[in-house]
Amino acid sequence: MNILVVKANNRPSTEGISSKMHEVFMNELTKGKDLNIQTFDVFEEDMPYFGQDFFNAMGKSAQAEPLNDIEQRILTAANKAMDAFMDADVIVFAFPLWNKTIPAPLQTFIDYIYRAGVTFAYSENGPVGLVPDKKVIILNARGGVYSTPEMAPMEMSVNYVRLIMNFFGIMDIEEVIIEGHNQFPDRAQQIIADGMEDVKTVASRLATVTV
Ligand SMILES: Cc1cc2nc3c(=O)[nH]c(=O)nc-3n(C[C@H](O)[C@H](O)[C@H](O)COP(=O)(O)O)c2cc1C
Repeated sequence: MNILVVKANNRPSTEGISSKMHEVFMNELTKGKDLNIQTFDVFEEDMPYFGQDFFNAMGKSAQAEPLNDIEQRILTAANKAMDAFMDADVIVFAFPLWNKTIPAPLQTFIDYIYRAGVTFAYSENGPVGLVPDKKVIILNARGGVYSTPEMAPMEMSVNYVRLIMNFFGIMDIEEVIIEGHNQFPDRAQQIIADGMEDVKTVASRLATVTV
């Protein structure tokens, strides 16, 4: 089984809760056998912003025209992200809620893999997802509570990643969300400890799954 772990927080695991979730997950997962685990650290990768350079690069490469430096850089980066995503049976996203949304490099990663003809297609009946056989695991932390009906629409990280994965046809999505540790400092330790146990459970289930 090919597992891609997309790490989207560069805070140390002693500070960032979602960084810690990533660490706990990896510690458990790497106990598994017959797993091909690849990590894609979006803060470490060279990932120029998505925009006209990418569109130029796609157009020119379709015409077999030479690319300039930035076009070459962005096409290489986007293809690397796309290849990693397409090769994976299971994709794990570990990311925080920052400023109501996902960190910018994770947005770039998603822009890179959002490609008509590869991850989705247009049809007469509307768009269809092209990678329905993949599984996604979301590991996310947020300091406030967004699981209530009033707050849920203000959450644009998990909601966004889930929506995009559904758009690609992926319906098998497992989520571990740690929330409220900033809002309730007196209960923070327990909230975090319980969440980390859930992370371990999901990772060990994946590590022991037989294909
Ligand atoms: C730059 C920044 C922005 C944040 N924005 C929000 C926010 O919009 N809503 C919220 O509930 N918590 C917010 N928090 C708190 C985080 O959600 C909390 O620290 C959580 O554990 C996820 O971030 P972490 O994995 O880096 O710890 C923010 C934290 C940081 C560092």
